[in-house]
Amino acid sequence: MDNSLESIAVSLKIGQFVRHVFLCVGPSCCSDQAGGAAWKKLKDLLKERNLSLSSGPAACYRTKVQCLRVCKGGPILVVYPEGYWYSGMSEERIDRFVEEQLVQGKPIEEWIFARNPLPSPSSGANSNIGEG
Ligand code: FES
Repeated sequence: MDNSLESIAVSLKIGQFVRHVFLCVGPSCCSDQAGGAAWKKLKDLLKERNLSLSSGPAACYRTKVQCLRVCKGGPILVVYPEGYWYSGMSEERIDRFVEEQLVQGKPIEEWIFARNPLPSPSSGANSNIGEG
């Protein structure tokens, strides 16, 4: 079996997803229990909706983290490329988040507390990174 990094990237569909969600599972912004339950719900729902390890228009990569440096009002979640920062992303909110933000591409304004969209590579910002 080919176990090269390139092969792993292909199996993870890296290069094909359109969003990347980072969910903090605590322990400072929320309890371990709340973070763990939110993560399980997100993971299960992405799989159920065929959004994870897929290449469709809403293909989404997910990453569990233990701190996004906000440390309050969690579980904290950030989704790129939009750069929407969500608070209070407990298990009960994950269904609506997946449907509206990930599938429909519509932000849920009342849960967003900050925005930091990243510039696209074509915008010229930091265009010299990786060169030379
Ligand atoms: S522990 Fe969740 S943001 Fe710091």
